[in-house]
Amino acid sequence: MDQMIRPETMKRITTPALAQSFIDEQIAEIRAQVGDKKVLLALSGGVDSSVVAALLIKAIGKQLVCVHVNHGLMRKGESEDVIRVFREGLDANLIYVDATDRFLALLAGVSDPEKKRKIIGGEFIKVFDEEAAKLSGIEFLAQGTIYPDILESIKAKESGKPVKSHHNVGGLPEDMKMALVEPLKFLYKDEVRVVGEALGLPHGMVYRQPFPGPGLGVRCLGAITRDRLHALREADAILREEFDNCGLAQSVWQYFISVPDMKSVGVKNGARYEGWPAIIRAVNTVDAMEATIEEIPYPVLHKITQRITTEVPGINRVLYDLTPKPTGTIEWE
Ligand code: XMP
Repeated sequence: MDQMIRPETMKRITTPALAQSFIDEQIAEIRAQVGDKKVLLALSGGVDSSVVAALLIKAIGKQLVCVHVNHGLMRKGESEDVIRVFREGLDANLIYVDATDRFLALLAGVSDPEKKRKIIGGEFIKVFDEEAAKLSGIEFLAQGTIYPDILESIKAKESGKPVKSHHNVGGLPEDMKMALVEPLKFLYKDEVRVVGEALGLPHGMVYRQPFPGPGLGVRCLGAITRDRLHALREADAILREEFDNCGLAQSVWQYFISVPDMKSVGVKNGARYEGWPAIIRAVNTVDAMEATIEEIPYPVLHKITQRITTEVPGINRVLYDLTPKPTGTIEWE
């Protein structure tokens, strides 16, 4: 990375007009850097990679090749959104890889969270590399690196600890021959969002809550099974829908469902019915180091419980986790 420190003269991007001038500058820079060559981007659908994709599409159109790897651990509708927004809306050169079966086969029977993370991160790189190898003439790799990632890397270097990999899934191969394109590297998250809106990305994509790289893999607690993963995805979709409906989606930092590998006895239509509990987590934080619990109004909790227990096969109870961080981490795994 050549220039590591944000230039002092750079204004904070807080308005659509400032975003537009940033976009214009970046388009000129990207064109000068890339020329008529091709650029590859792993498009997860997260805020940073989505904004980079939209910016590069403006700058170089079909010279950008986006690869979206669906590891089967996305939330409901997320991969479909990526396809709709980028392929259909922005006419992107988008390769969609449904690698669900590969990931779930590797994860079968694995219950240790760190092993699960390693498998998901490693396999993600493998699938991405396989797709890249099928392409020819790619000379650049675009990344959604943002300024806090760089600051963390610098801090880690200065403290003598190994440089923290700031990538969501895995790190870069050491023998990588492609040059990097990182147009957001001096932006803070709030600036990335302003730029994303100025580029015309949907509000929901730009203001998406943080979502871990291993996705639902660390929320389907213990060894992942397809039926429990399906129940988790459906329950999570209901939680998100109800948070949207009552306005909590705009104010709560992170909210999601986890489903443990544990059943309890219940009744349904007069018969004994063993099912999993869905555990709600809804937290507020500044930097994810400490977190407090959102006080969800009781009627909202009641409605979510009622919907999940009637609409989601396999779930017979809903629990609300009231533990702040510390002592609980935000994720259960
Ligand atoms: P914890 O559970 O450590 O989470 O309190 C803090 C924040 O980090 C997210 N998180 C992850 N993000 N890969 C990621 O990209 C991961 O493996 C991972 N684990 C946790 C978590 O969602 C929360 O926002």
